Amino acid sequence: MKSQDLVYLSGFANHHSSEALPGALPIGQNSPQKVPYGLYTELLSGTAFTVPRADSRRTWMYRIKPSANHPAFVRMDKQICGGQLGPVTPNRLRWNPLQIPEPATDFIDGLVTLAATNAADQASGVSVHVYRANCSMTRVMFNADGELLIVPQQGRLRIATELGLLVVEPLEIAVIPRGMKFRVELLDASARGYICENHGSAFHLPELGPIGSNGLANPRDFLAPVAHFEDVEQPVQLVQKFLGELWATQLDHSPLDVVAWHGNNLPYKYDLRRFNTIGTVSFDHPDPSIFTVLTSPSNTPGQANADFVIFPPRWMVAENTFRPPWFHRNLMNEFMGLIKGAYDAKADGFSPGGASLHNCMSAHGPDNTSTTQAIAADLQPHKIDNTMAFMFETCNVLRPSQHALQCPELQADYDACWAGMSKTFNPDQV
Ligand SMILES: [Fe+2]
Repeated sequence: MKSQDLVYLSGFANHHSSEALPGALPIGQNSPQKVPYGLYTELLSGTAFTVPRADSRRTWMYRIKPSANHPAFVRMDKQICGGQLGPVTPNRLRWNPLQIPEPATDFIDGLVTLAATNAADQASGVSVHVYRANCSMTRVMFNADGELLIVPQQGRLRIATELGLLVVEPLEIAVIPRGMKFRVELLDASARGYICENHGSAFHLPELGPIGSNGLANPRDFLAPVAHFEDVEQPVQLVQKFLGELWATQLDHSPLDVVAWHGNNLPYKYDLRRFNTIGTVSFDHPDPSIFTVLTSPSNTPGQANADFVIFPPRWMVAENTFRPPWFHRNLMNEFMGLIKGAYDAKADGFSPGGASLHNCMSAHGPDNTSTTQAIAADLQPHKIDNTMAFMFETCNVLRPSQHALQCPELQADYDACWAGMSKTFNPDQV
């Protein structure tokens, strides 16, 4: 079995199956008395049993040893950096790229929490992290607090999951379901990226409304792994994040030992370059919701617990239009990152690997330079190219962590990019 083997997801409600050994997957029932090859049956539920059928997520696994076969977890001395939320602030915040540490640092060691909407024990909201690593994990992790949307910004990752292998690079994303075990290995010297930890309902594709049945992120471009198991009997540390804290136990075998599976609670990857970007061909531009890749709904219809939104390369053709994002004060709370290139609303200060936070009702928009240029521009068809910014948008206020408010990467002068905006109002001139 090749490690890059993947299956197309035809939709998140549809079930898929995979077996790494012929005949390992039971046919016609989920839990036979005797599973082929002497495997154990185990169910991973991503939703309550009784949610509507279209929302249900679960996967049946056929594995060498059941997950229950472990000693007690012990709280780890070293916890996630930024685990403590800082003082509440309504201010706009922006960070330079977080540096990758020089000492050996794996994916868990290098996690930094920048902001969170609430404690991880709530059934909604998000936490936003940055990961930085210079070596592969030899341990295995799972997150009891939510699913993980991983957005690589630098360095390729090989993510070994219970259901198989995902290789992702910058401009691709990976999503790991709540509770699924995984190990992040580096394919380059170092890696850095962003994580939206979704404590609410699982991400799925947004509705398309009048757009029709195609466009934005198409279901066939989402890829799930095929079964790939490790039959390894040697000590392996298993780390879990539970209510925001790290706990560890020691196994005598690899927990990535699933030989066959079927279901729809799956890890998956998506190439952001396949996003079918839609925009105006007349004047003005649509709300940025037109750039939504994945959404996690809240209990309020139409209001997302979390949206993953991208700003990909695209043609700008609108006439008589202020083309950058307009000045705005929004209900929703916006965490932005930049994977590559430049963002069209900021002339400088927002670098690949950097981040910004604009919470509910904070006034923001293009900086002085971008505004002046946009008003003066001779508008011709123009392509914004070689860029990929993104936004984690949530209906809950994102509280920065203490670390995020104290780290040297926090920009002290972010407000200055809007300072000194010239008064152009002239009551005598229409
Ligand atoms: Fe905004």
